[in-house]
Amino acid sequence: MNTMTGSNAKVTISTLTTRKREGRKIPVLTCYDYSTATLMVEAGVDVLLVGDTYGEVCLGHRSTLPVTMDQMVTIAEAVRRGSPNAFLIGDMPYLSYQVNLDDAIRNAGRFMAQAGCDCVKIEVDRRLADVVAAMARATIPVMAHLGLKPQSIHRHGGYKAQGKRAEDALAIIEDARILEEAGAVALLLEAVPDEVARIVTERTALPVIGCVSGPYCDGTVVVLHDMLGYSAGHPPRSVKRYANLRETLERAFREYIGDVVERRFPVEGQGIAMPPEELARLRRLLPESPHP
Ligand code: KIV
Repeated sequence: MNTMTGSNAKVTISTLTTRKREGRKIPVLTCYDYSTATLMVEAGVDVLLVGDTYGEVCLGHRSTLPVTMDQMVTIAEAVRRGSPNAFLIGDMPYLSYQVNLDDAIRNAGRFMAQAGCDCVKIEVDRRLADVVAAMARATIPVMAHLGLKPQSIHRHGGYKAQGKRAEDALAIIEDARILEEAGAVALLLEAVPDEVARIVTERTALPVIGCVSGPYCDGTVVVLHDMLGYSAGHPPRSVKRYANLRETLERAFREYIGDVVERRFPVEGQGIAMPPEELARLRRLLPESPHP
């Protein structure tokens, strides 16, 4: 049961377009495992992105580029098991959709058929409109990710905001229209100015999810580890922090070490008891100890 909506119904793309039409914001979180997915659903988060940030926050890579299709499908399956009714977005990793249309459709199809995703997300601009169109023809719903595209960091010259110059902003706004016409079912805008996000959101009937793109999108996505204060190694995206998990977990780890070293855990009685008669039998069965 989604405690936010009071409903158990499957969340679909129509649910999201209805929420946009009714002006109800859409909170989205990245998710990479089964247990966290069950918690999110219990809390009422019903749109989950299995993001390729997995490569950074879980695998410790410096970018998302090394992530593979097999890794993404495995974790998407786990997240789906933990959130059967959520709207699940599978993030297509680097070179899983850019090489040719056959590969793109087959890989996207794995997210849909094997992992049970509701749509796939690809990092695009108008030059990849044919990929969106080919997927749409193959009945694969696509979320088009515009603005900062982390798989293009080497072209962007790093993790930089996009669309701050008027011409660049116009290109993003036009890309959004072209990709909608190509058949995208939703848009994601990463690191674009608030006003650019507002224009894109107002000019489309598609649900628009922002990531560090201000308050005017229909919804927002944040990377789980960033909002929980759990990130290590990479600079967290500028998001509001809702917990300091690193501090909480480090305290727990230190307490555990103290307990083991000081013999407070495990203690007698916390383990598995053996029936006394079996213990007595075992003692009789035991050969003499070679080390008396
Ligand atoms: O992979 C991911 O988590 C993403 C978000 C940063 C939007 O694409």
